[in-house]
Amino acid sequence: MFEIKTKIAVLVSGSGSNLQAIIENIENRSLNCEISYVIADRDCYAIERAKNYKIRTVVLERKIFGKRLSEEINLLLKNTDEEISYIILAGYLSILSKEFIQDWNKKIINIHPSLLPKYGGRGMYGLKVHKAVLENGEKKSGCTIHYVDSGIDTGKPIMKMEVPVLKNDTPETLQKRVLEKEHILLIEGIKKLISR
Ligand code: GRF
Repeated sequence: MFEIKTKIAVLVSGSGSNLQAIIENIENRSLNCEISYVIADRDCYAIERAKNYKIRTVVLERKIFGKRLSEEINLLLKNTDEEISYIILAGYLSILSKEFIQDWNKKIINIHPSLLPKYGGRGMYGLKVHKAVLENGEKKSGCTIHYVDSGIDTGKPIMKMEVPVLKNDTPETLQKRVLEKEHILLIEGIKKLISR
């Protein structure tokens, strides 16, 4: 029987390990969706990962498009035969415009490497998050999936997963432990989103 799959676009800026988790879960049929596009705002390893699986990739450089970046992404997503239902921000570092977010209201989710609302907001990305967690002597950290609203990391949380902070943790070891959980949480979050 012909199976209808939910189509998603994944936006990336970095190494793409979360993208890889999505791809592998689609491949092993744990996740019933299809990636229509992987869109990056810079040249990054995530694009290579997508190409390895023959997924359509587009690099819309923030440096080139500046304030028009969101508009360009929207044109791409809307002017295609694909009916894209959801957008997954998997390590995407550009800020999307208010218009874009309104247009895709409750259809964009982001994964963040902390227990939001703690350690979110402008400048809180990559190792900086984990460094701040350690500096504040937190006993636990983790990751959060949330809807994207017009603030930075302020949208309604969908799911969280905790990890302990260990005595000898460095920002790098904590990042690694959180990232492993992200790969699980993101898949659960997407399943929840597409089953609404
Ligand atoms: C992850 O920690 C994610 O939470 C954050 O950016 C990082 C991306 O990692 N938003 P990767 O590119 O998926 O490996």
